[in-house]
Parts: sequence; C-alpha cells; structure tokens
Amino acid sequence: MADFFAIEQESPMITDAAELERLDQKSQFHPFTSIADLAKEGPTVMTSGQGVRVRDAHGRDYLDGMAGLWCVNLGYGRTEITEAITRQSERLSFFHTFNGMTSDVVAECADALLKRAPVPMSRVFFGASGSDANETQLKLIWYYNNLRGKPEKKKIIARWNSYHGSGVATASLTGLPGMHNYFDLPKGPILHVSAPYYYRDAPEGMSERDFSRKLARELEEVIEREGADTIAAFFAEAVMGAGGLIPPPEGYFDEISAILKKHDILLVADEVVSGFGRLGTYWGSQTYGYEPDLITSAKGVTSGYFPMSVCFISPKVWDVIEGAAAQTGIFGHGYTYSAHPVGAAAALAALKLIDELEVVKNVADVGPHLMNGLRDRLGQHPHVGDIRGQGLMVGIELAKDRATKEGFPPANRTGREVLKAAAKRGLITRALGDTLVFAPPLVINRAEVDELVDKFALAVGDVLG
Ligand SMILES: Cc1ncc(COP(=O)(O)O)c(C=O)c1O
Repeated sequence: MADFFAIEQESPMITDAAELERLDQKSQFHPFTSIADLAKEGPTVMTSGQGVRVRDAHGRDYLDGMAGLWCVNLGYGRTEITEAITRQSERLSFFHTFNGMTSDVVAECADALLKRAPVPMSRVFFGASGSDANETQLKLIWYYNNLRGKPEKKKIIARWNSYHGSGVATASLTGLPGMHNYFDLPKGPILHVSAPYYYRDAPEGMSERDFSRKLARELEEVIEREGADTIAAFFAEAVMGAGGLIPPPEGYFDEISAILKKHDILLVADEVVSGFGRLGTYWGSQTYGYEPDLITSAKGVTSGYFPMSVCFISPKVWDVIEGAAAQTGIFGHGYTYSAHPVGAAAALAALKLIDELEVVKNVADVGPHLMNGLRDRLGQHPHVGDIRGQGLMVGIELAKDRATKEGFPPANRTGREVLKAAAKRGLITRALGDTLVFAPPLVINRAEVDELVDKFALAVGDVLG
C-alpha cells in the first residue's frame, strides 16, 4: 500500500485547516447535514487515509468505523486499485456503452461480476450510484410487466426504515419520513409495510420466528387488499442500514419469499451495502438464504474508489426483455457513466483483492469478534438497550431505560453526543437517531476491532457514565 499519509505532505493544495473549513463552510451545500449544526460547528475536513484510518486537516487520526459510507471495504490507500485506476485513465479515460459500444475492461468486468452472482443471472447493467441503480430496477420492473402483458402490475412494496436512495423514486421507496418531508414525497405507486424491527416492535414475549410470521401476514394482507395483479416487486436490504441497522428476525426472508413467489412478485435484493462480503458471506442473500430476481449493488464493487453501481438481472426478467426486443427497438435507458472504463478497472482490481485477501473469511471471523467485544463491554450498560447486527454491520441502540426500552428524548440528541465523544477519542461512528453504527473496512483485523470497541466504550462512558 502507498503511504497516503506521506503523500499528503507533498500535496500542493491548501493545507491550513481553518482556511479549508472556512472555504467549505461558505461554499458547499452538504448532503444529509443539518445546516444549523454545520453553521455552529463547521465541517470536519479529511485529507488522507491509510488502511482503516483517516486523517483530518488538523493532523488528527481516526479509526474509520464506517468505511466512509459503508463503502471503503478494502481500506484506504490500496495501490492495487489506485494503480489500476491510473493505468486505465491513461490508456482509455472514457468510453461509453450506448449503441452497442463498450470497452475491453468493461467486457471483462461484466463477466467477472456475473460469475460472482449468488444465483444465476443473465446480465449486469452499470450505473454510478446505488440510487441510479435502484431507479434502473424500478424502470426495468415496469418495463418487464408491460412486455409480458401485465400493465396493471406496477405497485412496489418497500419497508419503513428502508434506505434505497435519494432520487425522486428511490427516496419515495425509502421508508424514512425525514427524506419525504418538505420534498413532496413519496411519489408513485409505492407502498410501505412494517420494518422487521424486532427489538422495538415485537410484542412482549413473541419469538423472532413468530414476529417474522406476523410481518409476513401483514405483507400478504397488503397484497390481498391491493390485489396481487397490481403488485410488481418487493425491495429489501438484507440488513437495514441507514434506517437503524435492523437485521431480519429469524425466518423473515423464508416467510416473505414464499409469499412473493405465490403472488408472482419480484424480489429485489438491495445489496448496495451488504454485497461483496459485509455480512460474512459474499452476498447478504446468502447469509439469509433467499433468491433475488434482481440485485442492486454499488459501494463495495470498487471499494468506494470510483462511483459505480451494478444491477444484476435474472433470466426470468431478462428473457422477457430480450424476447420483446424486436418490438421495443432501442432500450431507452442509461447514463453517460454507465460502465465507465475507469470504474470497471477499479472494480476488477477490487474483486481480485476481495478474493486474494480472503475478505469474506475475515469478516466471518472479525464480525463475531466485534459483536462479542461490544456485548462484553457494553451489554450490561444501563443505557445500552440493544446490540445487534451481522458480520461487519453492527448497531448499538441507546435507551434511557434499558428495562422498559424507553428512549432518550430526541431533543437530547444522545446518539450524536456519543458520536462526538467517539470522534474526540479518534473513532468514527454514525448516529442513526440513538443507534450508533459500525461498518468498518472489511480488512479490519482483531487488534483494530479491539481498539474500536475500547474507544467506543470509553465514548459511551464520557456521555452516559
Ligand atoms: C441499501 C442502500 N441502497 C441504496 C443506496 C443509495 O446509494 P447511493 O448513495 O450510492 O446513491 C444506499 C446508500 O447508502 C444504501 O445504503
């Protein structure tokens, strides 16, 4: 790996921390940021990264417990990827895939991806973000049902607390009211059913399996109420990420999949976070044993080194689309940056590293180590209500009263206080309300996991005693 901390010293750019903070604050409109908080506290400016760590403009180092935004799965400073990007930029910096065009590296990348699919898939469709990939899926679903003579079958079911992106359709699909309010969303034929939030929503004493059955009954009631001939697809993350780190209760996907099959409803696996090893299997669907008809992936495919998304399309959907091609003519969908050759080179390098470094095996080892470490240190803490997750996707939900599960008043912003305390101790986490989340690079080792747990436990103590 290159020493990116050293490269930073040679950078010709502005290095004065206060100046960088000032420039950013007066010029950038930040995504998913409170304008009021930013005005008060200013931005945190990162300047370099190496392995599982990043450094800010003040020279402070942090263990990045979030792998950026759950994406830098192979860690920072991976020269295998940066050199592949450099070589490709020099050789062929761009070419497109419209009108049957492509590039060598893209052809190879598409094949490499299909070979890694969890179930047989016919084609991959490239984009540049998880949001645009889910937009593609929605359009494909509607296209597919029109072509197979079911134009009424259009409604999409997603879950409350889900996150599927930030576009008009994908934010509508997302089950987070904070992304709907003031934006005139949701739009379109979208329905939401309950999240599989066992800790908060399961009736007292109900087993996980029974809670899964309860949710399946709710889904079936919605389908029957609306009419199965009007429902096209169900979108699901394997473990809900941005909506509160919610893993499915036991048997959830068995129950749901059976209902979807019965009613001829497509299952779209949103594997934007869970794909490429995060849960300790290559795909989240393999952890829970379900078979998607469509898969959305992004983030880990290039380990965040280049914006790229990949939709996987099953034979069931592809055969209909291909079969109608003489009638439909040009497939009227795509992006300038669909299948960017530099992204494809980054993806090929990342896929190779995932195999060579045995990243999935590492997650299967350090994931439980992280969970055990958190439970040992914080499992009995009076203000830790729940510690949950799978692989390297873990959430710690705080509670004012551990016994009754009563939360802290939202105005206290307790989760955010813990996040700030962790940052002071050199650890990056993310606060989803009062659930603190970790999704570190998948190459993290046991010693680094121990450091993460230690810093986090101290930060919880700083705020909550
Ligand atoms: C499950 C899931 N789907 C889709 C997206 C959207 O991806 P992007 O931010 O690349 O548009 C995200 C982003 O975090 C995600 O977590």
